[in-house]
Amino acid sequence: MTSSPLRGAVAKPLERTAELQQLSAVLAAAASGAGRVCVIEGPSGIGKSRLLDECARSAQTLGMSVLRARCSELTRDYPYGVARNLFEAILVRADVPTRANLMRGPAALAEPVFGNGEAADEFGVLHGLYWLTVNLAEQGPTAILVDDLPWADDFSLRFLAHIAERLDDLRRLFVHPVNKRVALQERSALPNVMAAIKKVLGAIPGLEVVELGVPVLSTQASHLSVLPEFKAKLREREFAAAALAGVTTFASIFHACHRELITYQPDVSFELINFMELIGESMGIHIPDLYKRLRLIGDIDAMIADSADLIAAHGLDLDTVRDVLAQDMAGAG
Ligand SMILES: Nc1ncnc2c1ncn2[C@@H]1O[C@H](COP(=O)(O)OP(=O)(O)OP(=O)(O)O)[C@@H](O)[C@H]1O
Ligand SMILES: [Mg+2]
Repeated sequence: MTSSPLRGAVAKPLERTAELQQLSAVLAAAASGAGRVCVIEGPSGIGKSRLLDECARSAQTLGMSVLRARCSELTRDYPYGVARNLFEAILVRADVPTRANLMRGPAALAEPVFGNGEAADEFGVLHGLYWLTVNLAEQGPTAILVDDLPWADDFSLRFLAHIAERLDDLRRLFVHPVNKRVALQERSALPNVMAAIKKVLGAIPGLEVVELGVPVLSTQASHLSVLPEFKAKLREREFAAAALAGVTTFASIFHACHRELITYQPDVSFELINFMELIGESMGIHIPDLYKRLRLIGDIDAMIADSADLIAAHGLDLDTVRDVLAQDMAGAG
């Protein structure tokens, strides 16, 4: 699957002036010939993809070609999946002479990635991709943006397990007891991540992780949207088991799941939060879940009235705000 460089973000992201300045400097340097590498790190939902949207926009404004790929569980087990996503759109759209120009010289060694011929050896393919990048950059400055890098390979995922191994350093920060019985909205695709999260939560004083013993599926609930009935049944079973176990808290792992889950808050007796909130609580960090509060208002006009000061402060266009909210509400559940 090939993603468009821009994912349709509307307004400027809030409170990201410093990050945007840094990214602009990196892009300006790269556009003037001094190549740069920049890594955006941050917890789930903090706005990494959003920054990449801005990056794509700025790069296009600077006249750079933008290659963009998003890693997922599909690319993870798929050799060169990310490289294919990055380059395919340009190669498919290129006319014959342009394509030949891009694949000229040692870049031809990368042809097997795009379905042409057998790969001689792994190094050859890597070398070919390198030269493809060089050939492309010779045509003009190029920005290569890769989102959700941890999905790209197993090595990055081991990083979370590594954090769990360094729990003794982390434990010192868990100073506030969190007296909660917590069930997790488990997801099967990343067993190492689940184990690491349980280990970290288990180190929080007062917190008890409760096993529900219900079927565990997928990564993000949104991936099951094509099977709405099945998905609803799965969620009902999770909620029923959580109620039976008398949990105080049902915690999602992924923010995409969280955004769906919180819409069911009125239906359940336990709080619906993301697991990061528990870690924050134990560290004495509490950031109100603005998305949850606004989403649960449920009525677009009331949401707009509630956030009138923010909308004014950021000069947002009301019709756009209304459209975005309507889209978001339609996408949930
Ligand atoms: N600075 C910001 N101002 C306003 N909205 C933002 C900002 N950053 C992110 N958002 C919004 O918050 C939501 C989550 O952001 P985004 O998807 O970029 O997070 P992420 O870090 O890429 O998450 P994940 O780790 O799950 O991929 C999106 O709806 C995005 O538009
Ligand atoms: Mg993202």
